[in-house]
Amino acid sequence: MSLTMTLPIHTPVLLKEAVEALQVQPGKRYVDCTLGSGGHAMAILEKSLPNGQLLGIDADPDAIKIAKTRLADYADSTIIVNDNFANLETICKENNFLSVNGILFDLGMSSIQLDNAERGFSFQRDGPLDMRFGPTQELTAAEIINILPEDKLGNLIRTYGEESYSRQIARHIVRNRPINSTLELVHIVEQAIGSRRGKIHPATRTFLALRIAVNRELENLLTALKQTINCLGHRGRLVVISYHSLEDRLVKQFMVRENKGCLCPPETPICVCGHVPSLRLISKKAIMPLLGEIESNPRSRSARLRVAERL
Ligand SMILES: C[S@@+](CC[C@H](N)C(=O)[O-])C[C@H]1O[C@@H](n2cnc3c(N)ncnc32)[C@H](O)[C@@H]1O
Repeated sequence: MSLTMTLPIHTPVLLKEAVEALQVQPGKRYVDCTLGSGGHAMAILEKSLPNGQLLGIDADPDAIKIAKTRLADYADSTIIVNDNFANLETICKENNFLSVNGILFDLGMSSIQLDNAERGFSFQRDGPLDMRFGPTQELTAAEIINILPEDKLGNLIRTYGEESYSRQIARHIVRNRPINSTLELVHIVEQAIGSRRGKIHPATRTFLALRIAVNRELENLLTALKQTINCLGHRGRLVVISYHSLEDRLVKQFMVRENKGCLCPPETPICVCGHVPSLRLISKKAIMPLLGEIESNPRSRSARLRVAERL
């Protein structure tokens, strides 16, 4: 039996669309900022043969192990780094990997992380309230849940989870502290807002908010997006797949802003900002998965792909 047959695999989302958007070509260089189990990376490497190169980054050492095994056939063309993509530019510099022809972000967590109860991402499996992508990060979901004052906790659940019942949830959490496991938290959220509510599980938004906060997802994404401008060569492609509205909005706003010249308020007679456009939008609308992909991989349903080109 081959090694890869025993590996857990995350089904890559919008695979064909991402490779197309990156315009992968033989002999060129690409960065996959969210390597996961290497599905997108493998497709990029295959299409960039001969002589293509890929630098893959992931904060999760478990993902790194899986990707290394899976991409072993391409070891000579691949550099794999266990780090946060917020350090993108330094990572590229340290590995002599500048400039590049394309950068991919496939954000959030993998199904491997979600399915592992010990990671604490799932509201369907009992595990510790962890939710860190990388074990060296200091803050865990348990700390947020058990330490934050009620008003701050409510704000966090409202802002990051876009949860309308954030106050009720925060009140119930604070009353029931300490909370040690994911299913304990699910039970408390259900007590706060009922166990049946619309199409999604009542704990979905609370869990999303905690994950975003624990991993500083929006801050890290914006930090990395800004660095892509210095890493991409002329006509290099930036491709981002996001899975919730806050990150998609951030990506859209970043691309739209970098597509513009002067950013001064309209009443300013002469430009004082000196901003020059650095990106060209390839499509104004986000690319979404087709029905067939959503049917075969329901986790793809919220995916939105945006693409821009370095000027
Ligand atoms: C949706 S998965 C990527 C799946 C991958 N495209 C594949 O085909 O297997 C997202 C991955 O990004 C990683 N990740 C999320 N935020 C990160 C960050 N700020 N820095 C580095 N890795 C991050 C997660 O650990 C996870 O493995």
